Amino acid sequence: MEYRIFTYDTLESTNDKAKEIAAYSEEGTVILAREQTKGKGRLGRVWSSTKDKDILMSIILKPEIQIKDIPKITLVGATAINMALRDIGIDSQIKWPNDIVIENKKVSGILTEMSSNSRDINYVIMGIGINVNQDIQDIPKELQYKSTSLKIVKNSVIDRRELLNNILERFRTLYMPFRSNGDMEKVINIYRENSIVIGKEILVIKGKDKIRKGVAIDINHRGELLVEFPEGLEEICSGEVSIRGIEGYGKVLSL
Ligand code: BTN
Repeated sequence: MEYRIFTYDTLESTNDKAKEIAAYSEEGTVILAREQTKGKGRLGRVWSSTKDKDILMSIILKPEIQIKDIPKITLVGATAINMALRDIGIDSQIKWPNDIVIENKKVSGILTEMSSNSRDINYVIMGIGINVNQDIQDIPKELQYKSTSLKIVKNSVIDRRELLNNILERFRTLYMPFRSNGDMEKVINIYRENSIVIGKEILVIKGKDKIRKGVAIDINHRGELLVEFPEGLEEICSGEVSIRGIEGYGKVLSL
């Protein structure tokens, strides 16, 4: 997979731009924006960012895999970001399925979207947002308890170009074995080692009001989270739920 990077000054959302051009673009096309005016997060949330301080990108992928395996791409992406951060000396954890967390605060998220007909995948867009050089005042007040930036945790300015290149290289190395024969072994091993949820009490949130408490036991080879509920063990697929950590009883961790 060769990358071709298109950089824009301003976009509403790099995911939306990628969708516009996906039908006639090759796998490995990357849309990068200096700023987003309508950045999208998962579950209909807003993704907030600051011009020229963050990484805002979407990668167009055209894997020949089954639709049920699409959520795995997000795990590959999260693992690539975790490794790329390590490459530049930053330790991070992965909060299943797709958040990158440092010191219990989120620095990066992934929004994966896809288009398919009943049988085949037309394309997958993996959108990555990273708070890189945001200062504390760039982060909206109401998010400061749960979001941070690399600059804030490292206390120094991060080279965004270097980090971007590391992410793309790490992603390619992990994605190609998955794309050609479904091989997720390396991804799952690294993912597990860096998971912030394994062994913790969590809230599994499905839909609007279905919240259940359980303990995260492991990530299985399919990338599903194994959760022990009072009713027994269940495998949770990342397409379906969102989780939050809890500490003690009822206290929601700042994740
Ligand atoms: C999340 O954690 O909820 C996912 C956040 C994904 C944000 C990125 S920024 C680049 C791309 N374009 C978007 O509109 N969203 C993703």
